[in-house]
Amino acid sequence: MTNILITGGSGLIGRRLTEILLERGYLVSHLGRTKGNGSVKSFIWDIDKQLVESGSLEGIDVIVHLAGAGIADAPWTMKRKREILESRTNATRLLYKELKKDKRTIKAFIAASAIGYYGFGTQDEIFTEETKPGNDFLATVTQRWEEEVDTIESLGIRVVKIRTGIVLSERGGALEEIARPVKYYVGAPLGTGNQYVSWIHIDDLCGIYCKAIADLSMSGAYNGVSPTPITNREFTKAIASTLHRPLLLPHIPGFVLKLILGEMANLVLQGSKISADKISSAGYTFKYIDIRSALSDLLEKE
Ligand SMILES: NC(=O)c1ccc[n+]([C@@H]2O[C@H](COP(=O)([O-])OP(=O)(O)OC[C@H]3O[C@@H](n4cnc5c(N)ncnc54)[C@H](OP(=O)(O)O)[C@@H]3O)[C@@H](O)[C@H]2O)c1
Repeated sequence: MTNILITGGSGLIGRRLTEILLERGYLVSHLGRTKGNGSVKSFIWDIDKQLVESGSLEGIDVIVHLAGAGIADAPWTMKRKREILESRTNATRLLYKELKKDKRTIKAFIAASAIGYYGFGTQDEIFTEETKPGNDFLATVTQRWEEEVDTIESLGIRVVKIRTGIVLSERGGALEEIARPVKYYVGAPLGTGNQYVSWIHIDDLCGIYCKAIADLSMSGAYNGVSPTPITNREFTKAIASTLHRPLLLPHIPGFVLKLILGEMANLVLQGSKISADKISSAGYTFKYIDIRSALSDLLEKE
């Protein structure tokens, strides 16, 4: 039986991935900053002190590395920016150090990454895994994070990086934030509304993780996005239509969002059109290609 250890397994993606892996017959344990709720075996680590609870890597075949401070959970002060970066780089370095001492039974290391790697694009640009990285804050964080992840390959472990788009889930994350104003009749496209949203249904993302675990031919970076990016305006309209709400406001001006969110406003005012060709060619079949079917599945569950 394949034994999987998930770091940050208590988060949005980790919880759903755990359910799916258990359903598929995998053994799952978590590595986090605190003990879990008992649903699966859990171990703790102290990233600042570079300590991992003993036994956490014993018998593990694959590590799925999701841990990292939430990108949009708090204002981007200097301190928070450092936490966003170091929670990823230091955590990965800690795992590298542990595996360098003894790589044990571990054969694959599947790490989260983000489409933020590419920076933001114009309307016509399509970013593939070959595209050069961007140079804004998130692009820099993502490159530094991936560089740490790549060191694990030197230990003879298969490494896969999933450059994740905007994950749509009924249990929180971006969709909840975007759908809330629409639900209360104050939703509207953000800024020009023309910026691209490269989204993915959480079950497809977890499907890609499952494939990366099982498919020994996968290595390197793969974009984790649906094949159908849409504009922020189309996305907002699709949410409104799924929730049966009118869109009464024409749009929320960019400068208002910049006043409220500062630099973080770029997360919603700018976008990027990301290609899913590589993961599709690797043989992954998406369950949700059409935004309306994804939203119906997620928003009509409530
Ligand atoms: N959701 C998305 O739309 C999206 C998009 C692109 C990339 N990603 C990436 O995918 C990964 C998982 O995403 P997610 O949505 O599941 O994130 P999440 O819900 O924020 O969960 C991340 C987990 O990381 C751990 N964590 C939080 N702060 C930490 C810190 N300061 N130091 C170390 N660990 C910390 C927590 O687990 P413990 O409390 O158990 O330690 C948390 O549950 C993240 O690295 C994220 O950047 C997500």
